[in-house]
Amino acid sequence: MKDKLVIGNWKMNKNFEEAEELLEDIAEALEDWVLRSTVVLCPPFPYLEMATDYADESGHFACGAQNCAEFEDGAYTGEVSAKMLHDVGVQFCIVGHSERRKYFGESSENLSKKVNLLLENDIIPVFCCGELQNEREHGKQFDVVSAQIKEALFHLTAEQFEHVVIAYEPVWAIGTGLTASPKQAEEMHAFIRTLAEKQYGTEIAYNLHILYGGSCNAQNALELFMQPNVDGGLIGGASLKANDFLAIIEAAETVGKEE
Ligand code: PGA
Repeated sequence: MKDKLVIGNWKMNKNFEEAEELLEDIAEALEDWVLRSTVVLCPPFPYLEMATDYADESGHFACGAQNCAEFEDGAYTGEVSAKMLHDVGVQFCIVGHSERRKYFGESSENLSKKVNLLLENDIIPVFCCGELQNEREHGKQFDVVSAQIKEALFHLTAEQFEHVVIAYEPVWAIGTGLTASPKQAEEMHAFIRTLAEKQYGTEIAYNLHILYGGSCNAQNALELFMQPNVDGGLIGGASLKANDFLAIIEAAETVGKEE
């Protein structure tokens, strides 16, 4: 099995000093580790350049953004382009987080443009998908996730799709303390892998990283990461404290070593 990928999504949290402290704590702790997993930190835009400096110096983690513009450049006040992110050393970018879909009205059409621009700029899109509570209650979770993936990603060529990460984040589990059970996560991850296989073939589907996100924490990470189709996590709240995030990385490392 491939190595795990653990991504911290800081969302709109931390002041400058706190951000620096968290970067420092994580960089310092990881100094002694021989990591198999890939660790990525996604702070807010204003801290990205500082974060990529820390990442370069540490060599133990990479940096990601939480969003990018769907346009290449130009008169789009307030937007940040994929090229700008690339220029400051960003290697990953979250796309289509449910909070962006909900509060900023992002549609599959917007997301597919963002994915294209990120790939053109050598940034790995971390594409988020997941159903709402009532969609699960009505047994629609597979239809919803399948539509989200097909609409935003399946226009890509196989060569492009190889550089995409998918994060399954059931919306009812994000920031709520409710986690999908390992069985629910595994079931959806296996479904996503089969979708990818049908479109892009066995090898690309096998190599695809499918992350779980939604109240993943130091207590439940190991059991989630032990599921055969769970290739790591997209961590929100628990990535804001160095010790919690490090414990999650440790869980990823533990599973990685057992394989
Ligand atoms: P959470 O957030 O871990 O706080 O539930 C995950 C996410 O939104 O990416």
